[in-house]
Amino acid sequence: MQILLLGGGGREHAFAYKFAQDPGCTRLFIAPGNTGTAECGTNVALAVTDFDGIGRFALANAIDMVVVGPEEPLVRGIVDYFRDDPALRRVAVIGPSAAGAQLEGSKAFAKKFMVRHGIPTAQYREVSTVEDGASFLKTLPAPYVLKADGLAAGKGVLILDRLDEAIAALQTMLAGQFGEASRRVVIEEFLSGIEFSVFALTDGRHYKILPEAKDYKRVGEGDTGLNTGGMGAVSPVPFVTPELWEKVETRIIRPTVAGLAAEDIDYKGFIFFGLIKVGDEPYVIEYNCRMGDPETEVVLPRLKTPLTPLFEAIRAGRLDTVQLETIPETAVAVMLTAGGYPGEYRKGDEIRMAAPRPGCLYLHAGTRQAEEKVLTHGGRVMAITAFGASVEAAAGQALAAAEQVHYEGKYYRRDIGRDLMAPE
Ligand code: AMP
Ligand code: GLY
Repeated sequence: MQILLLGGGGREHAFAYKFAQDPGCTRLFIAPGNTGTAECGTNVALAVTDFDGIGRFALANAIDMVVVGPEEPLVRGIVDYFRDDPALRRVAVIGPSAAGAQLEGSKAFAKKFMVRHGIPTAQYREVSTVEDGASFLKTLPAPYVLKADGLAAGKGVLILDRLDEAIAALQTMLAGQFGEASRRVVIEEFLSGIEFSVFALTDGRHYKILPEAKDYKRVGEGDTGLNTGGMGAVSPVPFVTPELWEKVETRIIRPTVAGLAAEDIDYKGFIFFGLIKVGDEPYVIEYNCRMGDPETEVVLPRLKTPLTPLFEAIRAGRLDTVQLETIPETAVAVMLTAGGYPGEYRKGDEIRMAAPRPGCLYLHAGTRQAEEKVLTHGGRVMAITAFGASVEAAAGQALAAAEQVHYEGKYYRRDIGRDLMAPE
């Protein structure tokens, strides 16, 4: 099978690494890719939203399957684009249609979907005027959660401690702080608990559950400071017990897939459930229509099963016929970032590495090749994934490897997974 993978971050390097070991993948192209993906296949200079360019490339290179990493092409309808073009229809695209991608593309859509299907989530109201929003906010205890309805590059969620601040922030959002994305705002009850992420693959009727993960979103150790795209991840998550899994599957995953099917929404791809455990009960904080980054950097390396048979089964609508096997080891990913990230950050610093540490994966995120040199090129530069019999052991390996990668301004959190470690 000839595959075109869309995206260029650590998530896509993790996919490319899996495909490179997969006998079912005879040729791999990555658009646009990064320095790491170039070692697994051929990078192609195409933007992930250039549907015409991607379509022409797929035809010219006899692509059988397009695997979509990021959400933007999905929300913009790449699946529909391929389906509606007679020449492209034979190319399978792993990902939901634009209708299915609304689970991520519209917070209001996702909330209404959950309510329709009885899926546990925070109480909410969708508002488009300050008056309406303020009257709902007054019924809630602090803190206050405001979410731009549409995609806002991960920045559209605000959590405020005081009612007057929340009303002022709502006013700014509705006035267009995030453009069209915040002309409608979802106001939510604040849930207090511990977050984790669960991933499922679906063919629209059947599903397979992938290993769960926890990511670390704040830039500072001890979960302090600004939000980032993710500073590290751990899989499996020790507090996700069999009892909790049972609740997640029966109350959340199964009704989500059944709900999509009942509403005739075409969805053949990954569903990312951002969950929170409140007491012993799981709630959905958000859906995403793709894999997480950096969660993918710990989830895919724990899959023993190659991806192509899973994706073939999705294409055939027979995901029920395949088995999914995982390795028992814990994987920890530590994200190395550029100086200044998540604010204005450095770019173009040369990356020098000692010999790779055996057993560790160096998954490139924001890097660029310039002749013989590898340069930093994004805020998140590289994820290092290591394995071990425990979170401690895996994190120790990842940190030891992180020390041996050098560039000006390098920063990473040394406490990834510490909250999950057994007390001394
Ligand atoms: P989202 O983009 O919906 O995942 O929201 C970003 C982050 O805001 C989440 O990862 C949570 O940490 C936090 N958050 C979102 N909604 C809630 C909520 N209802 N209660 C508490 N925290 C929330
Ligand atoms: N790590 C969170 C995300 O990919 O959205």
